[in-house]
Amino acid sequence: MCGIVGYIGHQQAADFLIEGLRRLEYRGYDSSGVVFNNGGRFSITKTAGRIDDLAAKLHEAPIRGTIGLGHTRWATHGPATDENAHPHVGGKNIVALVHNGVIENFRALKEQLAERGYYCKSSTDTEVIAQLVAYELDLRGVPAESASAADEYAPLVEAVQAALSQLRGTYGLAMVFRDWPDVIVAARLGSPLVIGIGNDEHYLASDGSPLVGRTNRIVYLADHELAVITSQSIRVVHRDEGHVRHSETVLEIDPTQVELGGFPHYMLKEIFEQPETVTAAVRGRLNRDEATAVFGGLNLTPHQLRAIDRIVLTACGTSWHAAMVGEYLIEAFARIPVEVEYASELRYRNPPMTPSTLLFAITQSGETIDTLAALREMKRKGHPTLAICNVVGSTIAREADGGVYLHAGPEIGVASTKAYTSQCVVMSMLALYFGRMHHLSFEAGLRIIDELTELPRHVEEALDTNDDARRIAAKYASCDNFLYLGRQYNFPTALEGALKLKEISYIHAEGYPAAEMKHGPIALVDEHTPSVFIVPQGGVYHKVISNMEEIKARGGPVIAIVDKDDSHAVELADDVIRVPAVAEFLQPIVTAVPLQLLAYHAAILRGCDVDKPRNLAKSVTVE
Ligand code: G6P
Repeated sequence: MCGIVGYIGHQQAADFLIEGLRRLEYRGYDSSGVVFNNGGRFSITKTAGRIDDLAAKLHEAPIRGTIGLGHTRWATHGPATDENAHPHVGGKNIVALVHNGVIENFRALKEQLAERGYYCKSSTDTEVIAQLVAYELDLRGVPAESASAADEYAPLVEAVQAALSQLRGTYGLAMVFRDWPDVIVAARLGSPLVIGIGNDEHYLASDGSPLVGRTNRIVYLADHELAVITSQSIRVVHRDEGHVRHSETVLEIDPTQVELGGFPHYMLKEIFEQPETVTAAVRGRLNRDEATAVFGGLNLTPHQLRAIDRIVLTACGTSWHAAMVGEYLIEAFARIPVEVEYASELRYRNPPMTPSTLLFAITQSGETIDTLAALREMKRKGHPTLAICNVVGSTIAREADGGVYLHAGPEIGVASTKAYTSQCVVMSMLALYFGRMHHLSFEAGLRIIDELTELPRHVEEALDTNDDARRIAAKYASCDNFLYLGRQYNFPTALEGALKLKEISYIHAEGYPAAEMKHGPIALVDEHTPSVFIVPQGGVYHKVISNMEEIKARGGPVIAIVDKDDSHAVELADDVIRVPAVAEFLQPIVTAVPLQLLAYHAAILRGCDVDKPRNLAKSVTVE
C-alpha cells in the first residue's frame, strides 16, 4: 500500500504530484507529503489526513520546483501523524525519500545507525532507509563534481545500492539528493513502480493511473532494479547484472475511466458499470462451434492443460470469494478437484500437491503481496501458475506463466465490485473450458454459452434493485449486526455481501452457509439483527426457506434476495429484493449487485466515506 509519485522536467511539479496522489489515494490515505528539490535545497510539506489537507497546505504556502516527489501513506509502523508522514530525510538533509513497503529489520538498522550518529525522529521503518542512504553517501564522501563525467552517477548508485543491500523486506522507493540536485533515484523490490516518459520530462508513480492524460509511454521497473532518472534520461541498473536496457510499453487507460462521470462515488459508478464490464470479460472468449471458451494467454498447451489433475485457487479479500465461486464451478463442470487457499496461508504452508497441480492467482490489482508470494512459492516448486488479474502489466500478471485479464477498467473504489463480478465470469468460462476438455457435453457447453451471452442484460436488470436497496438500507442502517446467509453457489455471495457491508459501513456482518448458521450465529438473532438471505430458485431453495423459518421463529427480520417471480420466500421475508432469474452458476453474479447497493446505501446513510473506508487500502502490498 502507500502511493508514490515523482516528477522531473520543466513544468512545476506540484500540480502533477497532487493530482497523481489523488489518483493513488486508494492505496492509502491516512497522511501524505511532498518534497521539492531546488538546487539541492529540500522544501517539504506533509500532514496527517487526506490529500485535500495536503493540497490546502500547499495552497496556503505554495512551493515552486520542477523536481519533486509525493507520497500517500497507509500506516504500518507508527501512527498517522505529521511526523510519520513521508518524505523522510536522512543525515544533514542530504537525501529525502518516499517509500512503499515494509522494512523488517528496521529496528536493528535503527540501533546501528544511532551508534554512528544517524538518529531517526519518527517511528516509521522508512526513516531508517533515509538515514542509511545518508550514511552510505557520507561514508563515500563523494560530491557530484568529483565523479567522472562519463559516469557521473556511479558513486550515487553505489551508495544507494550499498544501503539497499542491507534492507530486509519490500520497497518501492523514490529519492532526491542534495548533492545530485538534478536526479531522482527510484528502486524496487516487491512494491511496484512505473516510469512515465514525457517531453523532456519523466514521471514516476506506483501504478499507471497518475500518468493518464500526461503520457502513455511507460517503463515498468522490475525487482532489484534501480533507475537514475533525469529530465532527459532513464538509466536502469540491476543489482546483479549492472546496467540493463529498459523496455518501453504503452499505457492503456482511457482518461474517462478514472473520472467520476457524474456519479457521487467511484463505488457507485463501478457498480453501474457492471453490464459493460461483464460484457468485456466475455468478449471474444466464447466459441459456439466448439461449445467452449477461448483464452489467448494461458501459455500452456492443450496437452499440458488436459493433464491437470488438481487446481489451487489462491487470493485475498473479495478475490478469495471469487475463488470460492470458482471452486464450485470448476468442480461441477470439469470434475477436477479444486482447493481454495488464502494466499497469506498458502505462502507459508507446504500442502501436498500432485506434480500436475495448476495454480490460479486471482487478484484485481495484481500487486497483493501475499498473492504474489504464494504464486512465487508455487512457481519455485515447479507448478504452472496462471493469473486472473485486472491491472494490465501488474507484477502478478507479469510473473505468472500466463493468465486471463478481466478487462474491467480501473477499479478505484476501495471496496471491490465490478472486478468481483468479472472474476466470477472468468471463473465460469474457465470451468466451461476445463469441463469441455473432460466430461462436459457439447449441449451442456452450449447452454452455458447461451446463459453467459444473456448475462449482461440480467446484470443491467439487477441494477433496477437500487431503489429497493436504498429503502431497505434506510430501514436497517442503525442495526449493529447483520447475518448474510446462502447455500451452494450463494454461500460465497453471502460472504461477499457481509464483507461489502462491514468494510464500508462498519456494521458488523457475518456471512455463513445458511444451514450452518444453527451452529453458532443463530445466537445473535433478535429483532435488531437482520438476516439477508440469498435465496433464488435452485436445488437448495426449499432447504434455505426452512432456514428462513428458523430465523423468523426467533424474531429476526429477514431480507430476501429472490428471483423475480418468487412466491414462497417472499411470504416469509420482511423485505424483498427481486433479481432476474438466471442459471444457478450465474446467481453469484446477479445477486451480488443488490448486495453491493445495499452496502453502499447503508454506508452513505451512516455518513461513511465509501470510496475510502477507514483503515483499508485497495492494494495491500504488505504482509
Ligand atoms: C484489499 C482490498 C480488497 C481486495 C483485496 C485483494 O483488501 O481492499 O477489495 O479484495 O485487497 O486485492 P486484489 O487486488 O488482490 O484482488
